[in-house]
Formats: sequence, C-alpha cells, structure tokens
Amino acid sequence: MTKYQAVNEVVDRQRTILVGVHLPERFGAIGGGDADLGELGRLTDTAGGEVVGSVLQRRDRPDGATFLGKGKLEDLQELVERTEARLVVFDNDLSPAQARNVEKALNAEDQAAGRGVSVLDRTELILDIFVRHARTRQARLQVELAQLQYMMPRLRKLWSHLERQGGGIGTRGPGETQLETDRRLVGKRIARLKSELEAIAGQRAVRAQRRQEVFTAALVGYTNAGKSTLMRALTEAEVLVEDKLFATLDATTRRVELDERRRFLLTDTVGFIRRLPHHLVESFRTTLQEVVEADLLVHVVDASDPEPQRRIDAVNDVLADIVPDARPILTVFNKLDRLEPELQQRFVNRFGRDDGETLFISALAEDGVREVRSALERRLLARERVYRLRLPVHRMDLVAVFHRTRAVLGVDHGAEACLIDVRMREDELQRLLARETDVVVVEE
Ligand code: GTP
Repeated sequence: MTKYQAVNEVVDRQRTILVGVHLPERFGAIGGGDADLGELGRLTDTAGGEVVGSVLQRRDRPDGATFLGKGKLEDLQELVERTEARLVVFDNDLSPAQARNVEKALNAEDQAAGRGVSVLDRTELILDIFVRHARTRQARLQVELAQLQYMMPRLRKLWSHLERQGGGIGTRGPGETQLETDRRLVGKRIARLKSELEAIAGQRAVRAQRRQEVFTAALVGYTNAGKSTLMRALTEAEVLVEDKLFATLDATTRRVELDERRRFLLTDTVGFIRRLPHHLVESFRTTLQEVVEADLLVHVVDASDPEPQRRIDAVNDVLADIVPDARPILTVFNKLDRLEPELQQRFVNRFGRDDGETLFISALAEDGVREVRSALERRLLARERVYRLRLPVHRMDLVAVFHRTRAVLGVDHGAEACLIDVRMREDELQRLLARETDVVVVEE
C-alpha cells in the first residue's frame, strides 16, 4: 500500500456526518448534491463508516469559501460536536480550498482538545471504496492513478492528513519547497503508473485480438444492480457477489457454452454510478475496454430501485463517454422479486417493450435467466447464415468434419459431388474457402 492510499482509507469505522447541498440543475454537473442523501449513506456504509447524522441545505449557488452557507456550517459544527463525529462527507465535490476551509472551521475548537475531524468529498469517498476493493494488480494501479490525479492539486490537504495520523512524514508543517518536492514525486509516480497500465493494455489487446471471432457480451449497469449475480447464474461460475457498491472492479470474463459448438464470452464489468468521478472513468479505461469491444451490451437495471430511470440515464451517460458507436443493448430489469406482485405488473407496463430487447428477471432466484440465455443465443445465431456448399467426391472426408464442428442442416449425396447445407458465420466461411480450395459455395 502506498502512503497515498493510506491517506484515503480514513472512512473505516469512523462516526460520520453526511452533508448535502442541493443546487439547481445548472450546477448538477459540478456541484451535484442529492435531494436526499440515501446514496451517499450507502457509499459511506460500503466504505465502512458509520453514519451518525446529516445536514442538508438548498442553495442557489455554493458558497465560494466553504460550499455551505455560514449558518449551516455552524449547524454542522454543533452536530459534529454533539455526535462526536470524526468524519464529514460532502455529497458534492469541493474545491481544495473549500475542503480546507471547512476542515479548519470544524477543527478550530477540536484541535485544542487533541481531536481532529476530516472532511472528504464524494469523489474521495468513492476513491476510498475503490482502494478497498481493488484486488488485481491492474485495478490497484488504476485506482492509485485516479487517486493521485485527484489529489495532485490537493497536496496541501494530504499533508495535513498525514500529520494528524502521524504518518511518517514528520509533524511539522511542510514548507513550500517540501510541497514542490512532493508534487514532483507524485508527477513521476503518475507517469510510471500510466506506462505500466499501457503495458497491461497492450497484453490485453493481444488477447482480445485472439478471441475476436468469439461473440462477446458485456454486462454493464449501475453499481449493485446484480450484474455479478446474473453472471453467476448464466455461467454457474463462482463470482463475487456482495451487497456492497463496487464489489467488482475488475472485468471478469467467462466462457458460456450454449451447445457443443457454440460458445460466447461474457464479461462482468465495474459498476457505474451517477456522477462517476471523471478520473476514475479515465483510469478505468482499460477495464472498460471490454465494454468497448463487446458485440452486445447487457444493461442490468435494479427494478427495486426507487428511481430506475435515473440509474438507466446515469449508465447511458457513462456509456456515451466510453463507447464510440451505437451498440446493441439488451436491457435486463433485475430483482423483480423485490417488488410486490401488483407493482411488478405496473413496472413491466412502464418499462416493457415488444421488441425482445427488454427482459424482466430475478437473477438471485434464477427466474428468467433462461430467457436471458435464449436472447443471447438468438443474437449469436443472428450472426450466422446457412450456406450450401459443394464438395467433390474425393473430399467426402469433410462431411464428417462438418458434422463434428458445425450445424449441418442437410446433406445431398450425388454421383460426382455432395451438397451440404451448413450454418456458419461469414468469416468462418471465408477461412474455410481459403483453406479448402476444392469447396465451392453453390447458393447463399
Ligand atoms: P457491483 O459490483 O457493485 O457493480 O454490483 P453488481 O451489479 O455486480 O451486483 P451483485 O451481483 O454483487 O448484487 C448486489 C446485491 O443484490 C447482492 O446482495 C445480491 O444478492 C443482490 N441481488 C442480485 N440479484 C438479485 C435479485 O434478483 N433479487 C434480489 N432480491 N436480490 C438480488
């Protein structure tokens, strides 16, 4: 673990106050802020913190210095005092100066008492969760990169965290030169991480090329929608399923066998979230590459979510950012079992479409999973066509080969040649014709 990661893992077991400033739409992208703090609470819980209170404010614009207005900041101070909270998490993204000012205000009295209150914003909280959940080398590198990029302009704050934790850097405040040295070191580390990630991307590209001919479907969706559960149901593989946000950070790919000769690859990807920190999208591009290369996207939506449409929009926003062209999407509404029966029907009426592109399932109960499988199978088959091939008599050996490896629909033995109807993809046909020069396509 690097010292930077240690800095960010500050949420664990901390008594936490949530703060949300609800701003008009036009501040949505930069300021954010939910009308209720439900999701921030879930994120805090996932990071291991304990929510002991919350402060909400509706404002026309954020306060330049402290984001919160003066009165609300005093309320927050009082609440922190009363609940003995040690962490304050903002649902909005704060500028480095705003975070510093709020921290200073909250610590004015506490510092004398030898305690300290830390302030994190939503992006830092999400980064903290990613640190915890990164298991493979690639995920660790990606998270560290995102963290360093986010922290670069906030290095002063980083120092103050380290000082409080007594984290090996010394207890006196850093001078400007020390800060510069630190910036330079972080810059070097960022460059190093980028080149390591590029190397990994290169290896992946080779592997991707090798399996290009195999149909690939990628599961995408809002965090906790049930992607891993569906993956498990479809592949019968052991996949990590947790009632936590961002349980899966690495793209996991499994092979699904439909029959003896047909298989496809299914990839489970990192969950998306509304206002996904920009640095994370950038750093996770290699992992998300699996999404970019997929022939089909399976968008898993939690039907029991109070605002499914918002979740769908959030996922589509991220997809628009990373997938260059329109991609076929199969939408799978999951967790139907969590809705009351009469609500289920209403839900289906609201979101259902007759185009076979929308399914309603419960992955956990394995209810409807067969339909997902069939929908995938149909798409896989749609890539194949039936060809009539003529084989000369001296190449009758190929009939047995076709029977073994392809779907043979009929064989007509003649005196000089044999006609065989087989189902295959165009690229398979072209390869066959290049290899077996005696074989001719009679009819398409
Ligand atoms: P991330 O890794 O955060 O992206 O999550 P995910 O989309 O992979 O979700 P996951 O499969 O880990 O499931 C999240 C939680 O939802 C787990 O507690 C699952 O048991 C639960 N869950 C998944 N599918 C269903 C379902 O059909 N019904 C119910 N009731 N719960 C489900």
